[in-house]
Amino acid sequence: MTGTCEMSERPSRNTIHRILVGNSQEMKEVESASVDLVVTSPPYPMIEMWDETFYLLNRDIRGRMRQDDGRGAHELMHDELDAVWREADRVLKDGAVACINIGDATRTIGSQFQLFPNHTRVTERFRELGFFSLPSIIWRKPTNAPNKFMGSGMLPPGAYVTLEHEHILVFRKGERRRFASEAEKANRNESAFFWEERNLWFSDVWTNLRGVSQKLDRDNIRRRSGAFPFELPYRLINMYSAKLDVVLDPFLGTGTTTLAAIASARNSIGYEMEGALLGVVKERLAGFEDIANDYIGCRIAAHNEFVAGRDCGFANEPHGFRCTSAQETGMRFDHLDSVDAADLTNIRAVYSEL
Ligand SMILES: C[S@@+](CC[C@H](N)C(=O)[O-])C[C@H]1O[C@@H](n2cnc3c(N)ncnc32)[C@H](O)[C@@H]1O
Repeated sequence: MTGTCEMSERPSRNTIHRILVGNSQEMKEVESASVDLVVTSPPYPMIEMWDETFYLLNRDIRGRMRQDDGRGAHELMHDELDAVWREADRVLKDGAVACINIGDATRTIGSQFQLFPNHTRVTERFRELGFFSLPSIIWRKPTNAPNKFMGSGMLPPGAYVTLEHEHILVFRKGERRRFASEAEKANRNESAFFWEERNLWFSDVWTNLRGVSQKLDRDNIRRRSGAFPFELPYRLINMYSAKLDVVLDPFLGTGTTTLAAIASARNSIGYEMEGALLGVVKERLAGFEDIANDYIGCRIAAHNEFVAGRDCGFANEPHGFRCTSAQETGMRFDHLDSVDAADLTNIRAVYSEL
């Protein structure tokens, strides 16, 4: 198929997903300017669960911590992330977007309780690399902490605010992406999202993000690995890329971004330095077809509920549902037929018409 083919003929919708065990500070397997979107969540500097990860990357960090040099350790941890951001810059195409989910950290070092503002540090570095900072998202996490008292309790001024949110930083490399050919335009139209989803997804505060199923988002996986809920990468992939694009997660963890890319008919590449997590990824991929198709079914059902009783002037061409805007008339969902994950470096997802 070429870009000049007849509009009625659709190119293959099948996608490839590569999971590579290694350090993403050097992504040798990824060509320069070949990636359309980065969606990731790095280990958060100065959050205790990630200390050992950073010590592995740079031994001096442990020494700084032992000397109660919190600022020095924090900076060295970010130096390790910076090496990945530089690689992300190399592999991203012009006009591509990077979405970084990161939380700030509070910690007492020596006798000093303080905030380590990870999101500002990452923002500064991306801007230094030449990216444009775009409006970002606060992800307000559900909390069931029995009490929120930190510091001096009810006595001013030494009580501290509890951190109950994380950031999703959004950056663009260079000018806005262009969709020049007819084939690119058609693919972009297929990749549209619903009007009511746009209102929710492009709001700057996200709450109640859904996991995709209990099986995939068991609490213990989340706690042990810092996995984000499925809906987080799923939304970002659908907001900032088109079908068949290449999505990269340089801190793949349990593979949530791979799952979201498969469900969104995008190609993907993930790097993870902890080889032991591959088993978890494999487990999550088994039977994922039903989960992904159910998820799409839920999106369509929610849409039908939204339009019921409303005066909607448009009809979607491929699926027939009514919709609010002309931009939704070409959007098209795919049915995920199979995921062959025998070789995690070459996972094949096959789709058919829904
Ligand atoms: C916050 S977790 C990512 C969780 C992931 N979003 C998920 O849903 O499972 C960060 C992951 O990055 C990995 N990691 C840290 N530094 C890395 C590096 N330089 N290269 C590759 N992986 C790295 C860690 O082992 C960890 O699994």
